[in-house]
Amino acid sequence: MKTKITELFGIEHPIIQGGMHHVGFAELAAAVSNAGGLGTITGLTQGTPEKLANEIARCKEMTDKPFAVNLTFLPSLTPPDYPGLIKEIIDAGVPVVETAGRNPAEYLPALKEAGIKVIHKCTSVRHSIKAQSIGCDAVSVDGFECGGHPGEDDIPNFILLPRAAEELEIPFVASGGMADGRSLVAAMALGAEGMNMGTRFIATQDAPVHQNVKEAIVNATELDTRLIMRSLTNTERVLNNEAVERLMEKEKRLGDDLKFEDILDEVAGVYPKIMHEGTIEAGAWSCGMVAGLVNDIPTVQDLINNIMSQADEIIKSRLQNF
Ligand SMILES: Cc1cc2nc3c(=O)[nH]c(=O)nc-3n(C[C@H](O)[C@H](O)[C@H](O)COP(=O)(O)O)c2cc1C
Repeated sequence: MKTKITELFGIEHPIIQGGMHHVGFAELAAAVSNAGGLGTITGLTQGTPEKLANEIARCKEMTDKPFAVNLTFLPSLTPPDYPGLIKEIIDAGVPVVETAGRNPAEYLPALKEAGIKVIHKCTSVRHSIKAQSIGCDAVSVDGFECGGHPGEDDIPNFILLPRAAEELEIPFVASGGMADGRSLVAAMALGAEGMNMGTRFIATQDAPVHQNVKEAIVNATELDTRLIMRSLTNTERVLNNEAVERLMEKEKRLGDDLKFEDILDEVAGVYPKIMHEGTIEAGAWSCGMVAGLVNDIPTVQDLINNIMSQADEIIKSRLQNF
């Protein structure tokens, strides 16, 4: 399938794997790129420029196809060495960077000068327009359904995507709630040029995370995610568990007095325990409502092949026959 996104990134299928903390390692990124999509290494999981350089080198050993690095800009008391991370990305010749969090304007000139394509993940039309105005090549429009940080507007993709299509000139992919060929065709009908998936890619054989995490996603329904940290204006969609219920009880009790320090036990440094040790109740971890559509743990290659053949079948049979 040829779209503006496949052309922009030099990939075969318009399917992107979004950056995911402690999930987006070289193994997953390479598997997605080898299957014809765009895989993404999560920069901040590596933390230091040296470790990121090493992860990029490992990915290059596993694929000769284009892949991306995600740079998430979060408010932090001790910010990561973003210029150092960017230098490694440029030196390694990584062709695409997925930015997320706050506006990437400060770092854009260095990336653009190096010929890197930048796709910025946005949860609103106004942020998408801003991304376009500062020179991003594409945006990933992340609806309310998404795993991770959906922003504070709560607009689902059935509204957000056509609104983005009305306003944007640069191409965009649909992100949040995407799982299969139906998602892809629907996203394209609403104006997107492809789709970005997070949760769906975790439940694959290639995702280098503990089996417990994959099974938790398969066992979850669309009713099993919760929104946390709203009062901190840092809303995150996570899979419900004991830690999340504890956290939500604190939110209810403390109301607007809640501070980040009150929930450190439930959110700080929990990802390695969850993703690698499989202690899935250790804290809150991002997961999309799309878990309700995830019922198997295929290889990434099979997942992408199935998405493309289902999309083809829907376009050529189901839609043609109306
Ligand atoms: C476990 C997990 C970790 C994530 N970590 C990040 C991250 O570090 N940076 C980022 O930009 N997005 C992150 N995301 C968001 C994904 O890149 C993607 O935008 C989102 O999962 C799309 O929604 P979906 O889960 O419904 O497919 C994360 C998502 C999940 C599920």
